[in-house]
Amino acid sequence: MSTGLADVVAAETVLSDVDGLAGRLVIRGLPLEALAGLRYEAVLHLLWQGFFDDLPEIEEFGARLGEARAAAFADWQVLAGLSPFDAVRAALARQPDDTDLASALRLAAAPAVFLPAALRAERGLPAIAPDPALAHAADILRMLTGRPAAGEQVDALDAYLVTVADHGLNASTFAARVVASTQAGLMSAVLAAMGALKGPLHGGAPGPVLDMLDAIGTADNAAPWIGASLARGERLMGFGHRIYRVRDPRAEALQRALRLLRSSGNASITRMDLAMQVETAALEALRQHRPERPLATNVEFYTALLLEALGFPREAFTAVFAIGRTGGWIAHAREQALTGKLIRPRSLYVGPQPRQAA
Ligand code: ACO
Repeated sequence: MSTGLADVVAAETVLSDVDGLAGRLVIRGLPLEALAGLRYEAVLHLLWQGFFDDLPEIEEFGARLGEARAAAFADWQVLAGLSPFDAVRAALARQPDDTDLASALRLAAAPAVFLPAALRAERGLPAIAPDPALAHAADILRMLTGRPAAGEQVDALDAYLVTVADHGLNASTFAARVVASTQAGLMSAVLAAMGALKGPLHGGAPGPVLDMLDAIGTADNAAPWIGASLARGERLMGFGHRIYRVRDPRAEALQRALRLLRSSGNASITRMDLAMQVETAALEALRQHRPERPLATNVEFYTALLLEALGFPREAFTAVFAIGRTGGWIAHAREQALTGKLIRPRSLYVGPQPRQAA
C-alpha cells in the first residue's frame, strides 16, 4: 500500500503534467513559462477546451466571465463571523450546481467577486459591484480597493492566477474529481476542493510563510530561527513538495512577477531581500536536516510576498489561490465526469476480526 497514494496514478488527464525531477510544469502542452503574460481568462479558456460543446471564442468568453461576475454579485450576502475563506466557501454553496458552461463560468467568477466583498465587509466597507467590461484580474483589484489598479499590478495578479490555475492531481483537484465522478454538479466538486485546499500542507501555507518572515525579522536571525524550528520538529512553510525534488517552477515564475512589480515602483515589497536570504538559509538547513530527502522552495513562499504586495491580507491568501485554481478544478471535474467512471478505491481492513456474539 502506498501511504498518501504517493506515485499512484489515479486519472488520465490532458490538462497538466508535473515533472518533479526536471522541475517542469506543462499546461495543455505549453510549459508554464509560455503562459507568462497571458490574462487569466485566456488560460481558463485553454483549460476548458473540449469540456463544453458551446465554448465561445476567447473574446466572447471573457465578456461572459464578466457577466458572470455581475450575476454572482447579485447573490452576495455578508455572513458575519466567518474568515474570508469560509465566507467565500459559504457563498459558493449558494451557486447553481449544474455541469453546463453557464454554471462553470458562474463558479469561476463567484470567488473573484466574493473575496473582495468579504474583505471589505471585515473593514465595515460596502461591497463594490463588478465591472463586466474589465479583465478578471483588473476587476478583482478594483473591487478590493475601490480604485482602478495600475497595469503592473494587474499583470502581477494575472501572473499569480495563471501560475496556480492547474497542477496535476494535487489534493484539492483529486477531491474535485472524486466528487465529479459521482455525477454531482460542479459546485459540489468545487466546494470539496476548497475544503482540501484549506489545510497548511496544501494551499494554507502562504499566510504562515509571512508569519515566519515576521518572526525571523532580520537576515542574521534566519539560520538560528530555522535551526530551532526544525529542532522542535516543525515544518518550514513554503518548502517541500510531494512531487518536486527540485525548486518548484512556480516559485521562479512568481519571483519574476515580484521583480517586475518592484521595478515598476507600484507596490511596496519590503521583504523581498529578507525573503531571499531566508530562502537560502532554509535550503541549507533542510539539506542538513534531511540529506536523503531533497526539500526545495515551493509555490507558496513567493506567493506570500506577491499577494501581500498587491494588498491582500494574509488571512485571504488561500482564498486568492482558490480564485485561480477554480479554473483547473472545473476542467478536471468535467474531464472526470465525462469518463463516466466512479472513483471508489478500496481500504485495507486492519481492525479486529468479527467475534461470535456471547
Ligand atoms: N520542513 C521540514 N521538514 C519537512 C518539510 C518542511 N517544509 N517538508 C517535508 N519535511 C520532512 C517531513 O517532516 C518528513 O520527515 P519524516 O519522514 O521524518 O516525518 C519528510 O520530510 C517527508 O515529508 P512528507 O510529509 O512525507 O512528504 P510529502 O511529500 O507528503 O509532503 C508537503 C509534502 C506536505 C508539502 C511537505 O513538504 C510540507 O509539509 N511542507 C510544508 C507546508 C507547505 O509548504 N505546504 C504547501 C505545499 S505546495 C501546495 O500544495 C500548493
